[in-house]
Amino acid sequence: MYGSDFAADPHGHYARMRAAGPIIPVELAPGVNAWLVTGYSLALDVLRDTERFTKDPRSWAALSEGRIPEDSPVLGIMMYRPNALFSDGAAHARYRGAINDSLSRIDPHALSEYVERSAETAIDSFAERGEADLLGEYAAIIPLLVFNQLFGSTPEQGSELVRVTAIMFDATSDETTQANVDMLRYLADLVEAKRHRPGADVTSWMIAHPSELSDEELMQQIALLLAAGTEAQMNLIANALRLLLSDDRFAGELSGGSLPVQDALDEVLWTDPPLANFGARFARYDVEIGGAWLRMGDPVLISYAAANNDPELAGADRIGNRAHLAWSAGEHRCPADGTARAIASVAIEKLLDRIPDLELAVPAERLTWRPGPFHRALTSLPVRFPVLAKPTPGPAPGPASGPVPASAPVPPLSSAPPAGTSTARPSGSESGDRRRPWSPLGEWWRGR
Ligand code: HEM
Repeated sequence: MYGSDFAADPHGHYARMRAAGPIIPVELAPGVNAWLVTGYSLALDVLRDTERFTKDPRSWAALSEGRIPEDSPVLGIMMYRPNALFSDGAAHARYRGAINDSLSRIDPHALSEYVERSAETAIDSFAERGEADLLGEYAAIIPLLVFNQLFGSTPEQGSELVRVTAIMFDATSDETTQANVDMLRYLADLVEAKRHRPGADVTSWMIAHPSELSDEELMQQIALLLAAGTEAQMNLIANALRLLLSDDRFAGELSGGSLPVQDALDEVLWTDPPLANFGARFARYDVEIGGAWLRMGDPVLISYAAANNDPELAGADRIGNRAHLAWSAGEHRCPADGTARAIASVAIEKLLDRIPDLELAVPAERLTWRPGPFHRALTSLPVRFPVLAKPTPGPAPGPASGPVPASAPVPPLSSAPPAGTSTARPSGSESGDRRRPWSPLGEWWRGR
């Protein structure tokens, strides 16, 4: 599942996998074997089954027996950390409670306003060029700005986050090691600053939560929020924009309000969910599911993308139907689905509102996808449009613009989907541009 063949045609692969049954053995990366659930009903069963499956990767037999290469790119995503994603039972409830309660304090109006201002700022940076890579220059930037705002980063911390994240996304392993150290420093500084000077932000709310998380626990939950939200958020925005710009069903409607945008989001969450194969669980004991015998400690991933497109669901009307598994299901279902959807909606609507004559700069079939077993991620999304007049100056969000308002919006920046599975392939643009998707971030942040 890590090759470019899989990235080029995942649905063809899912169809062939499904023919072998609702769960099949796969190779996530060289030497890393797992089970993949492709059937919708079985996916729901496994996601809800806390008796036979644990989320704790310390139960992963091949890892504890030293059978996973130490430098395997999947470890960044599948290795244990003391956070909600990798915990069960009481520990999970405690972490999840702090996350849920803090996220629920985000004011949706402030969030929406902040996404709009972030979108304006990003659009202004390329409006006069008449062309842009909407992945690196738009979809990647909005989640980052929103995360910094939501978590109360200072301008300096925001810049550091941009720098470190760019490295973690696409770098040599030497750089990644240092970037991990720098990321921990960023998180420690953020928590320390908010302990001394709390603000109206998610970090401060988590510190004040009755669960009384330690500094280490706080850092781990914030890192999870960063990891869980940012890259997936970027890919939701980019995948929905790709659909809107390439599918005739949406042609002519792009400036027509929010309905097509909501429809496009629904469709992408069904067909190309940003986290395509995720939700790793581990068998607590030898168990038979879907006709397959799993050994104790075997990892099972859920193919949200395959399950959503299971022929078992054929005939279901997808527009307005949110029974897809893009946010997972059960106790570990994404706690930020509403927030993530709101960010994507506002970001896309603002872009189409400012640039209604947007069009792809390359045929849709020439757009390429980043290899990797977990995500559904474009390498770039080149567009062109009539050059826009210089915009009226307004308050710019984020670090470059001075203190951030206290009452603002949402999440994350992706931590490191393993560099080995996330390496950007050459861009699909005519010019063969090989910039890493995140590279414009740092430049943009520094005002270039
Ligand atoms: C388009 C964007 C997003 C998608 C597609 C997405 C999807 C998911 C999925 C599928 C899971 C479940 C994983 C599992 O079963 O193991 C999950 C968990 C999680 N997500 Fe999201 N997510 C997105 C955005 C966000 C954002 C913006 C945040 C934070 C602000 C966030 C925070 C989390 C957290 C904390 C968990 C772990 C919950 C737990 O284990 O109890 N996600 N997400």
